[in-house]
Amino acid sequence: MSALTAALGQIDKIGAEGDMDANATDPVTFDSGDVCDPITLPEGNIVYPPTVHGEPLHELAANLMAGENPGRSRFLRMIGPPGVGKSALWRCIAYTLWIRRGRQVETRDGSPFYGFTEVQLGPEAGVKLVDSGIVSTLRDGGLVVLDEINVAREVALITLNPALAAGNNFTLYLPSTGESVTAHPWFRCGLSYNAGLVGATDLPEAWYSRFPAAIEVTSNWGALVKIGVPERLVAAAARLDQLRLAGEDSLSWCPQFRELESLHHLTERVGERMAISLFASDLHERTLGGRIQEAEAAAACRMLDEAGYGRLKVGASSRIPHLHGYARAVAR
Ligand SMILES: Nc1ncnc2c1ncn2[C@@H]1O[C@H](COP(=O)(O)OP(=O)(O)OP(=O)(O)O)[C@@H](O)[C@H]1O
Ligand SMILES: [Mg+2]
Repeated sequence: MSALTAALGQIDKIGAEGDMDANATDPVTFDSGDVCDPITLPEGNIVYPPTVHGEPLHELAANLMAGENPGRSRFLRMIGPPGVGKSALWRCIAYTLWIRRGRQVETRDGSPFYGFTEVQLGPEAGVKLVDSGIVSTLRDGGLVVLDEINVAREVALITLNPALAAGNNFTLYLPSTGESVTAHPWFRCGLSYNAGLVGATDLPEAWYSRFPAAIEVTSNWGALVKIGVPERLVAAAARLDQLRLAGEDSLSWCPQFRELESLHHLTERVGERMAISLFASDLHERTLGGRIQEAEAAAACRMLDEAGYGRLKVGASSRIPHLHGYARAVAR
């Protein structure tokens, strides 16, 4: 038996062992009627907010954050893996707050403006405190979202800490100009991060009281069906995500809204077979780069099997480079 045949046999065995088995978790069903009304953002993209215990997420968040006193507002943390829609939802929340504040959408630098600033922190980022989105939002009101806050360099947290510390009246001192900026009554701040990220540091303890509400964001699977992604694929992805949420199989990543939406768009342009191979190469590259683990790539391929794409697999004797039987898009 060749190494390849052995490897494929092993994959089949893992698949047959059934952690993708429909009986392993509750069957996932979708009722498109359950999907709440979409929001068309001023940029033109359509977002379908998911619900939390039946309440649209952006309304729940706006209720926590609304009012004319940042000290009484309840700031929010949105937790979830990459591509579930955190940024899209923050935009919906910022837009909702902007309208509640009685403001019109403006145009700034040729783009719609509704008081939304997302600051990418990440391990390498510093935070500029002069003329940054943070300072102007502090001054004029609006929503600042600090993305990937738990991998931000300590210095970024320390610099921002005073403005958010209790009793400090949301005042930020800018050493470079000697200016103290006090928050506008409609200043709001949110945090976005992936709690499962390897190497992430915890938030400073004080921030848990400044940001007491945590929402665990998951992909809006029903919305994916609504935009035309095959139901069988969505069901397989949703089931895999249930395993991730349950903390099984050491999965910290599995395909989310972003990946399914993009697979759908690729399929529309170049057909199913090519789209799946572009998807397989993407998974392969992410695995090589250490951004996802071998087991996660394998689970994503089992998701494809379960969704009925197994018929596109290349034969065990094929020389075509593949990922768990799915041909990769290798140019020759
Ligand atoms: N509920 C939704 N309705 C419509 N589009 C969505 C929804 N959720 C996600 N998307 C789309 O999926 C893609 C990924 O979403 P987004 O960038 O908001 O994810 P994220 O959680 O912020 O990811 P990251 O952690 O990488 O920043 C975007 O193109 C977004 O428009
Ligand atoms: Mg984002």
